[in-house]
Amino acid sequence: MKKPWWMSAVAYQIYPRSFMDSNGDGIGDIRGIIEKLDHLQELGIDVVWISPLYKSPMDDCGYDISDYYAIDPLFGSNEDMYELIDEAKKRGIKIIMDLVINHCSDEHEWFQKALADPDSEEAGYFIFRESKDGPPNNWRSMFGGSVWENVGGDRYYMHCFGKKQPDLNWENPKLREKLYEMIRWWLDRGIAGFRVDAIIHIKKDQDFASRPADGPDGMCGLQGWARNTPGIDEFLAEMRDKAFAGYDADCMTVAEAPGVPEDKLHNYVGDNGYFSMLFDFTYSEINFWGRGWECARPMEDIPVTELRDSIFKHMSEATRTGWTAVYLENHDYSRSVNKYLPTGDQRDYHGATMLATLFMNLRGTPFIYQGQEIGSTNINFNSIDEVNDISTHNNWKNWTEAGLPLEQKMAGLQYSRDQNRIPMQWNGGVNAGFTTGKAWLPINPNHTEINVEAQRNDPNSILSYYKRLVKARKESAVAEALSFGEFVPALLEDGDIIAYKRVGEESQALVINNYLKAEHKVTLPCGVKSVVVSNYDDVAVDGNVLTLKPYQAVVFEI
Ligand code: GLC
Ligand code: CA
Repeated sequence: MKKPWWMSAVAYQIYPRSFMDSNGDGIGDIRGIIEKLDHLQELGIDVVWISPLYKSPMDDCGYDISDYYAIDPLFGSNEDMYELIDEAKKRGIKIIMDLVINHCSDEHEWFQKALADPDSEEAGYFIFRESKDGPPNNWRSMFGGSVWENVGGDRYYMHCFGKKQPDLNWENPKLREKLYEMIRWWLDRGIAGFRVDAIIHIKKDQDFASRPADGPDGMCGLQGWARNTPGIDEFLAEMRDKAFAGYDADCMTVAEAPGVPEDKLHNYVGDNGYFSMLFDFTYSEINFWGRGWECARPMEDIPVTELRDSIFKHMSEATRTGWTAVYLENHDYSRSVNKYLPTGDQRDYHGATMLATLFMNLRGTPFIYQGQEIGSTNINFNSIDEVNDISTHNNWKNWTEAGLPLEQKMAGLQYSRDQNRIPMQWNGGVNAGFTTGKAWLPINPNHTEINVEAQRNDPNSILSYYKRLVKARKESAVAEALSFGEFVPALLEDGDIIAYKRVGEESQALVINNYLKAEHKVTLPCGVKSVVVSNYDDVAVDGNVLTLKPYQAVVFEI
């Protein structure tokens, strides 16, 4: 097996607007990231993915890019970015950027030219259609409403996401070349790769025909005709060969790619796959699979076996085919302690560290999302006005139009993507140490207790526990197994725990997580040599019986 650096790396995601503000305008920036690099180094991070920093009108907080080559002044300058790359490098940390190439911003000069002149070269970079009576088809955008937007007369353009995010026309070879050129330009600036945004949408079924409605709005979702659509492979293979090839030794690419069919996974992440790894959504959307936020299920309504089986399904598929990325959180979801722990246990140290143990030892490159390492929780949003996120506002509008009761809308609001975008909690002081000005989103009042400063020197903090987990992947007796080993499910007959083995060439580990907030006995499936990490000091093994404490997690060397 080839072992590129990113297989044994631990990654960290920064949402730059909310990480650290260096100039008091209430919005995080690149100099703020530089100030906090030591925190990442102490945690043991090898690579940082930063959500988009490029020039943008910020309709979708930077996922709407108006200039791929420039850093947005809100975040700093290109020089700041190069300095960040250097400063990170000094600490052994690589930087990967977000690559948003399914769409750009309607304020990008390409789109402006396309609008001004339907015969321009740039008009061919987008998906324009003529239609006399309303939108050209009934496809529903990811943020709700039609994918089509009228620009006067019969002319419409397509957007899978927001109106200010026109989709790029990947059928156009000139456009594709422009994108590859830009990708290489950034790689030449010393970044170590990309997280590739919404990439499963780049191929559209060229019939652009309406499909049977799947909702009361008369529209249909994008699955199959503008999401994981046949023909996408040609584009992805070309991008691998023309954009990433030649940077192989260093370049790490992680695709945001939910719903790739198992028989195609190999093309994505197998030998010579399009990407190094991908983000799958199966388990991360377990609380609202097939439903909206307004109908989300709390963890007490989700059988542990259902969570286990969906994690294991992706693990075994990915193990059969190649590599993957594992994560508890990102900027599109609410906090993991809220999602994966029953109501009331969000502040439970053992609950949070059990989740950490469960995820950090799966087979794949682990991504820690900012704040996760201190057990950050959701905030209570009191009103839609406290929220910035475009998708939350769209949802709210749709719920209102559908006549949902206020109580249900407020419940749905608590799943807003802004839960994970409120500022990082650095200390217990004013604005959680994030800014000296007024933060762009509310500060979680619990920052007085949950913050980096308070946890940094406390050996019993969630932060210290994360450090131990990261270290176990690098320096423990089972480091090789935890980084590279095969994934083997264990103790499947016990529906209250989630357990698995990692079987390496040099070592083997057994990871057991008690999902019950109660003592629980299990019969060990094999002999154990030593405890590598546990969230309790005491691990009670008697013969082959292990008595787990509430939410106890243990990594054994076996
Ligand atoms: C991805 C991003 C999300 C963004 C969307 C459109 O899903 O993670 O934040 O809104 O793409 O770019
Ligand atoms: Ca700032």
